[in-house]
Amino acid sequence: MKVLVTDPILPDGIEILKKAGLEVEERTGLSPEELKEAIREADGIIIRSGTKLTAEVIEAAERLKVIARAGTGLDNVDLEAANRKGIVVMNCPGGNTNSAAEHTLAMMFALARNIPQAMTSLKAGRWERKKFMGRELMGKTLGIIGLGRIGSVVADRALGLKMHVVAYDPFVTPEQASKMGVELVSLDELYARADIITLHVPLMKETYHLINAESFAKMKEGVLLINCARGGIVDEMALYEAMKNGKVAGAALDVFEKEPPDPDHPLLKMENFVCTPHLGASTLEAQKNVALAVATQVVDFLVHGVVRNA
Ligand code: NAD
Ligand code: MLT
Repeated sequence: MKVLVTDPILPDGIEILKKAGLEVEERTGLSPEELKEAIREADGIIIRSGTKLTAEVIEAAERLKVIARAGTGLDNVDLEAANRKGIVVMNCPGGNTNSAAEHTLAMMFALARNIPQAMTSLKAGRWERKKFMGRELMGKTLGIIGLGRIGSVVADRALGLKMHVVAYDPFVTPEQASKMGVELVSLDELYARADIITLHVPLMKETYHLINAESFAKMKEGVLLINCARGGIVDEMALYEAMKNGKVAGAALDVFEKEPPDPDHPLLKMENFVCTPHLGASTLEAQKNVALAVATQVVDFLVHGVVRNA
């Protein structure tokens, strides 16, 4: 049986597939047309966020049995199309939780202390100590939208920094939140109280442009916003307007609605805008975890007929 790998995973995972007797075809950077051709004869496909498995691509598969995501988000897979064809879809969410949470904290520090801007200024030969006055995190209120795996690790680390943590998550009970030291609040209360807001929800119909002009209007003056979850959860033009009028003092995005964003994207021109190219899970540790997990899951399914998520 053949497994097509269309986004890079570490060699440790490829080894597991090969040792189990599976043929592995590694083909990254495929165009949609090339992907349709390559998927035709595959029994399994392993992807990260770069590969878009649309209904059209999935329809082109003639013997595909499993779609496996080396990571968490499944927003790049048309789940209905996979379901129609009886294709099993699996992910391995735990492996990059800590890395995504740590990246969120890095973004929070970068925003609070203007680290990227100050470094750019110093490297350009300037010494601008007054311009880059920062803010402390201790005592500030962090608002977490989505208190799942990543959101709860962020909460734990923020409590260690002596921040107050409030969260909005309709699927978490106040008791569960309070055990984590977090106060569960409504979305409007979170907007009203948070000095810093961070997003950790999946991208779905319900969360598309969850953060929009109306939400910015309800936030505190000078709020900081972080999105290390998924592009599309924040309306980027509304964010641009909110930064221009000073409502949002700084924003950090690891993810964009279109990746990579166009080079003339207005946010990229803003000085108080910090960004990274979807690096939340890009650590050696997380990539090793997900490569091992995804490969083992695919072998378990294709070779042993066992379905499980890590
Ligand atoms: P998770 O499923 O453990 O947590 C998501 C939480 O969001 C759940 O608790 C759920 O109840 C909550 N939720 C769902 N809908 C909501 C809504 N409308 N409002 C508020 N909360 C809602 O997922 P996770 O492992 O914490 O990952 C979260 C997301 O982070 C993933 O879906 C993925 O898109 C993204 N992610 C990004 C990176 C990166 O590289 N930047 C890495 C890993 C994950
Ligand atoms: C994820 O959802 O796990 C992230 O997008 C990480 C990634 O695959 O880069």
